[in-house]
Amino acid sequence: MQSLDMPAIQAAARKLEEGALVALPTETVYGLGADAENPEAVAKIYAAKGRPANHPVIVHLAPGADIGYWAIAIPAEARKLIDTFWPGPLTLILKRAPHIPDAVSGGQDSVGLRCPSHPVAQALLREFKSGKGGVAAPSANKFGHVSPTTAQHVRDEFGTDEDSPLACILEGGQSEVGIESTILDLSRMASHGPVLLRPGHISAAQIEHVIGMHPRMPDAAAPRASGTLEAHYAPSTPVALVPPEELADTMKRLSNAGRRFAVILRTQPAAAAIAQIAMPQSPDGYAHDLYAALRAMDAAAADVILVESLPAEDEWQGVNDRLRRAAHDSQGILSRLLS
Ligand code: TXA
Ligand code: MG
Repeated sequence: MQSLDMPAIQAAARKLEEGALVALPTETVYGLGADAENPEAVAKIYAAKGRPANHPVIVHLAPGADIGYWAIAIPAEARKLIDTFWPGPLTLILKRAPHIPDAVSGGQDSVGLRCPSHPVAQALLREFKSGKGGVAAPSANKFGHVSPTTAQHVRDEFGTDEDSPLACILEGGQSEVGIESTILDLSRMASHGPVLLRPGHISAAQIEHVIGMHPRMPDAAAPRASGTLEAHYAPSTPVALVPPEELADTMKRLSNAGRRFAVILRTQPAAAAIAQIAMPQSPDGYAHDLYAALRAMDAAAADVILVESLPAEDEWQGVNDRLRRAAHDSQGILSRLLS
């Protein structure tokens, strides 16, 4: 890791304190940050993203921050998970302390907290309000788009000219994990136990190992999470998931129908594709490359991006979740292109 550009980080912290938006690298994806305790600053996030204001945002805290300032009725399980996984890609949903503005929680009585491990994010959080503030930050992309894993992706989303809603974009290289944090709801611990709102790098099995309970899947009354909408994380080119054994035949039929397709695959190269990317074999490697691959294949302006589907095993849960949402209408897309 390069040495930190402290002048840039300090300037960004001052911008946040003034109520401006700053894009920051994290180990999962780049975030679009604002002062979590300044409702006008948080409102700028919603405006920049084009995101409905009833969607809560995650509050990012400096290492060692006092979570008792942000949340109340914190269960013992939360402390154990924090000791084990923070700083890192785990967001905990807890009951919101009454003085925390509901702008960050979309009007719900909970708050999402996470301490990122990326050195630039940590340095920024230590500088901002002397480490006592919280930075509200959803992924730094337009609502529903693919999340950014490089500073260039953020520039591609928001531009760099004077019209950009961002005061600055901090550089931090390519995000190590590559998909958004695991979100675990502990705000209804007594009645519902731990609930996995979004799978990610930290798995349900790892959580169970620490707290002795397997997180449940969300029920209808679980706190809303926008990353849990269908049709999220999607490029503008339609995406279709295709099982490995059907890939060759699907490509042949698309070629015969005069369709242009790009492919994200793990096995043999695809001769007729206008663009293709061979992905790493491991779940971590695949997650690391996934969003950059979707963006690159989107740029090929194909009729469809075919993605070779992945094993259903637990270790692929985070990646499969994102792919399923990006490809929420695979069957419909393929039948339209082939009819
Ligand atoms: O890895 C990540 O979590 C990244 C980086 C920037 O930290 N952030 C991220 O933010 O993915 P976003 O806004 O794209 O997704 C945050 C998810 C949303 O689905 C949101 O609804 C949920 O977290 N969330 C935040 N606070 C919540 C709350 N109080 N209750 C329920 N869900 C919450
Ligand atoms: Mg997002």
